Amino acid sequence: MRTSLCDILGMEYPIFAFSHCRDVAAAVTNAGGFGVYGALGSTPEHLDEQLRWIDEQVRGRPYGVDIVLPARSLEDDHPAPGALEAMIPDANRAFVVELLDRHGVRLEAARSDAGRVSSKAAERELVDVVVAHRARMLVNALGPMPVDIVERCHDAGVRVGALVGTARHAEKQVANGVDVIVAQGTEAAGHTGEISTMVLVPQVVDAVAPTPVLAAGGIASGRQIAAALALGAQGVWTGSLWLTVVESDTGPALKDKILAASSSDTVRTRSVTGKPNRFLRSAWTEAWDQAGAPAPLPWPLQMMLTTPAISRIMQLDEPALVTTSVGQGVGLVHAPRTARAVVIGLVEEFVDAAATVAALLGGAAPA
Ligand SMILES: Cc1cc2nc3c(=O)[nH]c(=O)nc-3n(C[C@H](O)[C@H](O)[C@H](O)COP(=O)(O)O)c2cc1C
Repeated sequence: MRTSLCDILGMEYPIFAFSHCRDVAAAVTNAGGFGVYGALGSTPEHLDEQLRWIDEQVRGRPYGVDIVLPARSLEDDHPAPGALEAMIPDANRAFVVELLDRHGVRLEAARSDAGRVSSKAAERELVDVVVAHRARMLVNALGPMPVDIVERCHDAGVRVGALVGTARHAEKQVANGVDVIVAQGTEAAGHTGEISTMVLVPQVVDAVAPTPVLAAGGIASGRQIAAALALGAQGVWTGSLWLTVVESDTGPALKDKILAASSSDTVRTRSVTGKPNRFLRSAWTEAWDQAGAPAPLPWPLQMMLTTPAISRIMQLDEPALVTTSVGQGVGLVHAPRTARAVVIGLVEEFVDAAATVAALLGGAAPA
């Protein structure tokens, strides 16, 4: 399974694992893959602490960090302190409180800052922490990576990656100096476009060659990794797969819901961040789809409105409301395993798939 990207970044298998849980990122790196710590909403101090811990665990093995820096945001036009808060209608605030009330969830004032709302300025501050640690790659979602950040990373020997949902976006990223493109299909967890992985990956590979491309969206098996490499990708970028591993900090009720879910149980919703984001269907996502519900606000207002509520729901692991970004690949995972077992399983299944294709074509199966 080794591709040239493994030589560039220094891992054994081109399996990238996105996770907001540091234990998962470190475990995947230690199993021969490439863990990526999701830093959205971190303070620089928190990120520094997490990366210090990961550095201790992985002892020089490679890992990355992901930030979320949107190309355009309302904050560009309304920089005054408090200006964005004032734009959240009272009716939307009341809707969230009533929804929580119906499920017996109270927003405690002391916990309202439990999740830090990401802003462009806050995410930029994280870049300094990433380059100060031994992260091998910084990845951004939501728009072209600013050229000054690319240059700052390159000066520090850190590669730069970016998530894209169209070939045109991939070309823009490469024009800005990005080293690795993550072509993420609509099946994926998180902010997604509308083009499926199978259709998107070959387009992106052709558009940005020879820049390495990772296939993302719905990948949860070695068979799909074989397919991704056949499409021209140099590896795979995965997220949902790691929510239910033993090391993950996902709450028990949410873990059970994810393991029981089918591929039809996800929905692209604006109800969490204001941008289309694939989530597990729950009482939260359904409430925002009901007649009479307010329309979700634009980024970052919706996130400012919902972050304290979602943090509280996650903290309580409230069974009806609890939800998470998750992709359609959720229907391929039904039992918890360690991160190492998942990595080894992916590699073994990949080898079997390659042998099956060779046999299908009448060639000798690889040993
Ligand atoms: C719980 C969760 C949170 C995510 N949050 C982010 C994020 O903050 N930044 C980001 O770039 N991608 C985020 N993603 C998307 C992943 O980076 C990845 O692209 C996606 O999960 C791949 O599709 P898959 O889930 O089908 O494997 C998240 C994914 C999950 C499962």
